[in-house]
Amino acid sequence: MWSSPRAMPSSWSNLVCLLVAFSYLFTPIPKSRLRRLRLRRRTHLGRPYALHADTISFKDGQLQGTILKSLDDGAESVRLPLTVSFLASGAARERYNEVEKLAIVGGTTLDKEAKVTSQDAHGLVVQYGATQYEAHVKFDPFSVDFKRDGVSQVKFNDKGWLNVEHWRAKVDKPEPEKKEGEENNESAAPPEGDKGVDESTWWDETFGGNTDSKTRGPESVALDITFSGYSHVFGIPSHATSLSLKETRGREEGHYSEPYRMYNLDVFEYILDSPMTLYGSIPLMHAHRKDSTVAVFWLNAAETWVDVTKHKNAANPNALGAHDRTSTSTHWISESGLLDFALGYHQCRWNYVSDDDVKDVNRKMDKAGMPYDVIWLDIEYTEEKKYFTFDKDMFVDPIGMGETLDKEGRKLVTIIDPHIKNTNDYPVVAELKDKDLAVKNKEAKIFDGWCWPGSSHWIDSFNPAAIDWWKSLFKYSSFLGTRENTFVWNDMNEPSVFNGPETTMPKDNLHHGDWEHRDVHNLMGMTFHNATYQALLSRKSGELRRPFVLTRAFYAGSQRFGAMWTGDNQASWEHLGAAVPMILSQGIAGFPFAGADVGGFFGNPDIDLQTRWYQSGAFYPFFRGHAHIDARRREPYLAPEPHKTIIASALRLRYSLLPAWYTAFFHAHRDGSPIVRPMYWTHPSEEAGFAVDDQLFVGSTGLLVKPVVEKDKVTADIYIPDDEVYYDYFTYDTLPTKKAQTLTVDAPLEHIPILMRGGHIFPRRDTPRRSSALQRFDDYTLVISGQYIYRRFALEGDAITSVDAEGRAAKSVRPGAWMKQMKDVAVDKIVIVGAPASWDTKEVEVTSAGKTWTAPVKYVKGKGSKTSFAVVGRVGAAIGEDFTVKVL
Ligand code: NOJ
Repeated sequence: MWSSPRAMPSSWSNLVCLLVAFSYLFTPIPKSRLRRLRLRRRTHLGRPYALHADTISFKDGQLQGTILKSLDDGAESVRLPLTVSFLASGAARERYNEVEKLAIVGGTTLDKEAKVTSQDAHGLVVQYGATQYEAHVKFDPFSVDFKRDGVSQVKFNDKGWLNVEHWRAKVDKPEPEKKEGEENNESAAPPEGDKGVDESTWWDETFGGNTDSKTRGPESVALDITFSGYSHVFGIPSHATSLSLKETRGREEGHYSEPYRMYNLDVFEYILDSPMTLYGSIPLMHAHRKDSTVAVFWLNAAETWVDVTKHKNAANPNALGAHDRTSTSTHWISESGLLDFALGYHQCRWNYVSDDDVKDVNRKMDKAGMPYDVIWLDIEYTEEKKYFTFDKDMFVDPIGMGETLDKEGRKLVTIIDPHIKNTNDYPVVAELKDKDLAVKNKEAKIFDGWCWPGSSHWIDSFNPAAIDWWKSLFKYSSFLGTRENTFVWNDMNEPSVFNGPETTMPKDNLHHGDWEHRDVHNLMGMTFHNATYQALLSRKSGELRRPFVLTRAFYAGSQRFGAMWTGDNQASWEHLGAAVPMILSQGIAGFPFAGADVGGFFGNPDIDLQTRWYQSGAFYPFFRGHAHIDARRREPYLAPEPHKTIIASALRLRYSLLPAWYTAFFHAHRDGSPIVRPMYWTHPSEEAGFAVDDQLFVGSTGLLVKPVVEKDKVTADIYIPDDEVYYDYFTYDTLPTKKAQTLTVDAPLEHIPILMRGGHIFPRRDTPRRSSALQRFDDYTLVISGQYIYRRFALEGDAITSVDAEGRAAKSVRPGAWMKQMKDVAVDKIVIVGAPASWDTKEVEVTSAGKTWTAPVKYVKGKGSKTSFAVVGRVGAAIGEDFTVKVL
């Protein structure tokens, strides 16, 4: 585990971040075993894990020792090595494993200043990070209490539910006799070992018709983690649930009866308001209360379950100062141990059937005045689901198709899945076999399973040699029909195996390095995503590119390789409503480039639902319309009026705000801040907003959006998090807002409720264009690939200033080709909403690049709820230069 103070981006402070990684602690948990492991905490009479005082050493920020695990017969004990690393970055971690190499980037320098400040026979105290941080380690039973300013924040094993299933040799026992008609399934009564321990699932387990051989025996790890004084916990996506996580035990209404599960799966028609697992996992949990945030990252890629319970703190209500008196306990169980076009609108369906179909959609989007950037090809574009081929009859001229798209700067995305069709006359599968780069079954033979193409093999993307081979397949000379504007969609990478257990890979399959699939399951999607990302990066030498790859499965770290979406949702109002909390949850867990299928994947949305979905989708970081193969065609230009015009406005709104989205993406890239932000993140001290998950701020723009997600609803109730002034985005009206209260605004079908929070300046591009590429040299840009312009604008009294946001001296920004092109791109006009009377003037003075000139002002005096505003026209200062605009 790691523990240390950490400054949270934005207004967050006092974040204590703990990372938990168990190297050997992997094991699978079908429900029968889960029940057993959940129960275990109650059946232990004593606490069997003790840190042996004689084994402890502390050096250079690392505490090492041996935990003795006493077995149930009391005679034996197992020795478990323990390392607690206190890191300079402000996090702390326990143990090390393979997952770290893929999931953690940087920040692992030890805090060499950390020191043991006291020690006796019962425990010791480590001071680290900064003097106010302490870890109180108790020896017997072993537990750690992380404190700040003497107050407990996070406790490990406070309840004594630490459970590490140690390696053990298999002792063959006689098969229990089966009674007639008895099936070997999970509902059969568990045979018990001599000491009353259910060993029925230790060595092999049959579940849903599949047998998991578990040749390495049971290896699970579990730990209770208590967040003292925190009543809200967030994160651990992906689940179709509220942002603030619900309790998972107890019978009260609104509690789940099962823990949150993380085991990347191809789920069919997922249900809402549920802790069931979905396509990807990020085992990062935030606990947040007024003025304090702590986080735990459980670094384990095996199947993981998390129980959440809340309880009032006992006796001393002041023990935690003035803070919330509810604490949240969690129980973690694991089976074993920059971008541009991507921010525009994406048009997808399963499937665009031919190159003519693609060109037709392209033309009709233009005709309808609907901007879009990317058109997508689902699996049917291939020749019989053989990836890296185009169906020759339907896609006669894919290069010509790509060129047509290129004319408007548009891109094509083709799907490439990790299953490779097992058939003759397919060079890709022949190479996969010859080079021995596929995932193996438990007998170390190439694994064969079923997916879209029928019999298939899976690339073992854990193998560096397989990644090298994968790169070769994407070369333009190899994937014929693709060009520089072709990018990739990785689907089915949980992985989905139609005839596998739970539609995924058997846990006893083997990967490179002899890892069992069970150990690395949740990582597999990310390794495949990484392989594709690397392949696109190296497609042509010397080509400077920022590849776009969409993934369905993910893990912590996947954010480095592209975007994710929430998989196969349904064309229903409920699914529209579920998307925003799911996307917010992605953002706070560090994978913010997230979206949901606009319109709903399964089924046919009615036209109001489709319209509202576009309005909502315009505020997803990843904005893509998609539809199932059986769904009716629903490209937005097919909508009848007035819906067609309303959808076109939503699309144009997205495009006009693209500079603001770029900035939000840039911030996410720079410091991990979410692109769309929930209230508890932007206003960490306002408790009333912690559970609000149906509205969002776009980056740091101050734009507060509350999408309408209910049928026939024509008003929106917006929670107001502070005392700032709020304006209506479209009318500039000052709104009668009050902190912590709900503001109800009109929201007829044609209206998206968007407020502008006072005190922000965000960039916009108001000229409608067909694609983001065509906006490139329009006025007002802030961030663009490679070189960038990043300005800080400020309005102070009667002056507006623009300076480099990073304090770079003008000369230090070496003008490359792009900067030279940007030289003449200027600030055209400035709109000051809520302008004071001093702006009631005819002209202002502009100073920039050593020159001074005047620019005209139009001032409109407010009345009643109408606020005053001023528009400065023809400003003319170059966007990349410092400037001052001053009232004369
Ligand atoms: C499943 C994906 O979730 C869906 O978006 C896609 O259309 C189908 N696979 C077919 O490729």
